Amino acid sequence: MSERAQRPIIVGADGSGPGYAAVEWAAQEAVRRDRRLRIVSVLSPWLLEPLPEPNADRMRRELRDNGQEVLRQAAARAAAGEPRVRTETELVPGGPAQTLLKEAEGAPMLVVGGRGLGEFGGLLLGSATNQVALYARCPVVVVRRTEETAHGEVVVAVDDTPSAQAALGFAFEEAALRSARLRAVHAWRDPASLGWGEMQPPVYDPELVAGEESRVLSEALAGWPARYPDVEVVEEVVRGGTVRALAGASARADLLVLGSRGRGGFAGLLLGSVGQAMLHHAHCPVAVVR
Ligand SMILES: Nc1ncnc2c1ncn2[C@@H]1O[C@H](COP(=O)(O)OP(=O)(O)O)[C@@H](O)[C@H]1O
Ligand SMILES: [Mg+2]
Repeated sequence: MSERAQRPIIVGADGSGPGYAAVEWAAQEAVRRDRRLRIVSVLSPWLLEPLPEPNADRMRRELRDNGQEVLRQAAARAAAGEPRVRTETELVPGGPAQTLLKEAEGAPMLVVGGRGLGEFGGLLLGSATNQVALYARCPVVVVRRTEETAHGEVVVAVDDTPSAQAALGFAFEEAALRSARLRAVHAWRDPASLGWGEMQPPVYDPELVAGEESRVLSEALAGWPARYPDVEVVEEVVRGGTVRALAGASARADLLVLGSRGRGGFAGLLLGSVGQAMLHHAHCPVAVVR
């Protein structure tokens, strides 16, 4: 195996509940993919430098010990959930998002919790998570809680963009690894009125559009089932909002897979509006694939 093929899956542990949930999820994924799991806890750099001041030194030692304890607990949770997992742990100095992004370079996957220890409880998505979901070049999986039951289904969001093709590749692989069904969801809305008020465009025929939209889905899927003949695929074309359709499907799924970009938005946009919404509102772990 090449060196790249042996790179570990990376997971960030910060001592929070969602962080540990991410570790448990990542341990199972590492075994599914036959990879090692690298558990990283990021600590402010000043905690790792020697200091002449004895009091400051004691405090720093305690914080460092706390970091080691987080790693120890994380490794224990990984092994408790998946005894076959091979873990390594490291306390790394730096800023959380920056450091996790650096760790993720060349990694097969980066896994983080949906939230961390941040004190502003109203936030649905942690700041480090938001940043790595935007900037990581490898797939990022965001985990909110440890799921008790498996649904046997992976959901993938599909449109006619290259980003959706990347998502499909990841989703088929996941479905195959899990022996799960793959639900490919394509949502569409009635075209916006071109006239005043609620007037529809004069030549608009919903049945015709529905037919077009299911063709978009089949064309996007073309070629994939042949590569994964054992994966059962369910094609779902939904008339309505994408966010609502995916949120609904995520309630009955083990993983929701999204491309990072759709059709909307401007060229430099790093994560489309559907991705942003799903990171906040999905009912299962979410993978963002570039
Ligand atoms: N210091 C850190 N070391 C390792 N992983 C971290 C660290 N901070 C955050 N993470 C990862 O990012 C996830 C979300 O944390 P974060 O974005 O910091 O949320 P919050 O803003 O609520 O603190 C955590 O569950 C963890 O997986
Ligand atoms: Mg944090």
